[in-house]
Amino acid sequence: MNILITGGAGFIGSHVVRRFVLNYPEYKVVNLDALTYAGNLENLKDVENSSNYSFVKGDICDENLVDKIFAGYNIDHVIHLAAESHVDRSIKDPLIFIKTNVLGTGNLLQTARKHWSGKFEGKRFYHVSTDEVYGSLELEGGYFTETTPYDPRSPYSASKAASDHLVRAYWHTYHMPVVISNCSNNYGPNHFPEKLIPLMINNIIHRKPLPVYGKGENVRDWLYVEDHAAAIDVVFHKGKDGETYNIGGHNEWKNIDIVKLLCDLMDEKLGRLRGESRSLITFVTDRAGHDLRYAIDASKIQKELGWVPAESFETGIRKTIDWYLNNQEWLDHVTSGAYRQYYESMYG
Ligand code: NAD
Ligand code: TYD
Repeated sequence: MNILITGGAGFIGSHVVRRFVLNYPEYKVVNLDALTYAGNLENLKDVENSSNYSFVKGDICDENLVDKIFAGYNIDHVIHLAAESHVDRSIKDPLIFIKTNVLGTGNLLQTARKHWSGKFEGKRFYHVSTDEVYGSLELEGGYFTETTPYDPRSPYSASKAASDHLVRAYWHTYHMPVVISNCSNNYGPNHFPEKLIPLMINNIIHRKPLPVYGKGENVRDWLYVEDHAAAIDVVFHKGKDGETYNIGGHNEWKNIDIVKLLCDLMDEKLGRLRGESRSLITFVTDRAGHDLRYAIDASKIQKELGWVPAESFETGIRKTIDWYLNNQEWLDHVTSGAYRQYYESMYG
């Protein structure tokens, strides 16, 4: 089995690559990643020399390159994670989201279609997507299910919705075997410190202000990244063609409560006075079009594929804090930009 994993140097992608390289030595894993600001090969140091792993630096929009990869590695499966993923950046600069998330996904689909040329036996195109395509819920407004109508509101979620639609169009029109999963917010090791949890951890370490948007009342449903990688493994191996699976941990938190929890746990860890980090909390102007609440009904994947999260939030958040405290070099390289030199040092 030759699997093309896109975006494997990013946060979730690196956990997926590691899992597939280590758990399935019989598969050949090709990681295609453009190494944007979010791609960091230091995430994969422990598997980079594995004999069943190859890295290709490049853009999923590059038709010639993707074509060469399909031909050269005889790709028969795709797990597609490469994307621009940060909502705030999508508000500032939507076009790169449209390019990578929509056109890039289109290019991968079209290249797979060309190479598989109607012989879809033993093939699979898996799109890793987000629950943000469903829009926003009221505080007491139920859950997103697989049949919730799409209602994306940010340029990021609109671009992911568009790519989901394209993937489904290839299933209905060409019978390409596709599968999609829509997951809630992830947290854990290797998370780029622009997203809520790692940003707060980094700022607490350095005693910098903790910017909470609006009143901090928005709700997100958090899942430990290893649990997402395990769900992707299950969907890839057991999911049905043409189906969608929602992935989430039934773990809803108001932003302000999560920030306070991080402050208290880290004060304890860092030997600071209780309350010291909370004094860094700063309420700032709200995000434009800020979705109020996301919450996933994950009963389909549980019932049909037997996946449930292994990590509780209590243990997952402590592991995450410990990881950042024990990997300050990773954090320093990311915040200083030094991580961008790692590719040259490894691959010349
Ligand atoms: P990330 O931003 O950490 O990583 C994205 C990776 O894609 C990076 O390594 C980057 O270099 C690469 N990339 C970006 N543009 C590229 C291009 N044009 N060509 C090739 N590579 C490119 O993102 P993440 O948080 O790991 O998310 C991975 C996927 O999971 C995304 O598709 C995202 O929409 C989805 N997702 C994320 C979350 C979450 O909470 N982070 C939740 C649900 C779904
Ligand atoms: P984020 O981690 O960007 O994920 P998403 O927007 O995809 O859910 O943000 C999570 C929540 O935290 C979201 O409601 C916005 C809020 N937030 C802040 O309050 N302050 C911050 O500095 C950031 C980055 C996010």
